[in-house]
Amino acid sequence: MKALILSGGHGTRLRPLTHTSAKQLIPIANKPNLFYAIEDVVNAGVRDVGFIVGHTKEEVKAAVGDGSRWGIRATFIEQDAPRGLAHAVLIAEKFIGKEPFVMYLGDNILKGGINDFVRNFEESDAAASIMLCKVGEPQRFGVAEVDAHGRVLSLEEKPKKPKSDLALVGIYLFRHDIFGAAKKIKPSWRNELEITDAISYLVKHGKKVTTDVVRGWWKDTGKPEDILDANRLALEMIEPRIAGTVEEGVEMVGRVAIGAGTVVRKGSSIHGPAIIGAGCVIGPNAFIGPFTSIGDNSRLSNVEIENSVVIGDSAIECSRRIRDSLIGKNVHISSADSNVPKCTKLVLGEHSRISI
Ligand code: TTP
Repeated sequence: MKALILSGGHGTRLRPLTHTSAKQLIPIANKPNLFYAIEDVVNAGVRDVGFIVGHTKEEVKAAVGDGSRWGIRATFIEQDAPRGLAHAVLIAEKFIGKEPFVMYLGDNILKGGINDFVRNFEESDAAASIMLCKVGEPQRFGVAEVDAHGRVLSLEEKPKKPKSDLALVGIYLFRHDIFGAAKKIKPSWRNELEITDAISYLVKHGKKVTTDVVRGWWKDTGKPEDILDANRLALEMIEPRIAGTVEEGVEMVGRVAIGAGTVVRKGSSIHGPAIIGAGCVIGPNAFIGPFTSIGDNSRLSNVEIENSVVIGDSAIECSRRIRDSLIGKNVHISSADSNVPKCTKLVLGEHSRISI
């Protein structure tokens, strides 16, 4: 079994962060989203991993390296433009060869891993298997209609009248037949070769396509609010750990992880679940609320922040309450007027400078 992790794409819904950075490297509980995908395929026993990369290829290559950190062999496959998930499959044909493979979208995150999904597929003779998740609004997703044995009858992209509440998760298992199917389909209205069309082609031609249902949770981190959701879910699982210095008089509540070299100054409060990276200075007078991740080398003082992600290398001192915000690297937020307490909602790209 090989793996193909998709790390290209436009990431338009995450601009401005994705003007300069790969969306798959946005940290979820201080770990790049892509690393969760790598860990899932490694835990399922895969050692040969191909990464589809686009305009952010240098950054993805630098983050993954040769893969030895995870005991994998990393191969990078360049896609000239985001021409669709089935296009990504086609350009990986030489790398995959005749082996079965798992395709994992690098901006998806899953609780519970993919081991059972992979084992079930290996024991079957299916041409493909798709992972599904029960969702509240199936109209927003690719939706599968399945029979009593979990075999796919049909697939529809964002249907007005969904035939089930089972959405396609960005994790797929394929045998060699998928290459033939991907070569037969035509680009969709958005000019992409759609993987759902290739899988539908398999179904229509009598090939067996099976399913597995997510038991934990699943998130596709395409939009800022999805990143905050995924961050919230991932923080529920962190190990409490204090590797830095917490001065006397700091209030710490719940599950909190603090990285090496970080100092939390007196008069500050940290309410978990929360994670603070390495080399940070927190306080004086900082309140880090629940569901917040602060990346390495950040300085926060005179601020309340909750349910937010600060990617790193940032300075925030603004006598305000920041909530539900995604803040890129090298962001400086300073006070223009410290007398008016207000709640501020922000999505800021790298190197932003604002005074509020
Ligand atoms: P999408 O989220 O569908 O697309 P996108 O990344 O271009 O984002 P947006 O819609 O906001 O512009 O992509 C899912 C994943 O697959 C994501 O990790 C990017 C990756 N991808 C590729 O590597 N190649 C492709 O051709 C496409 C369409 C996506």
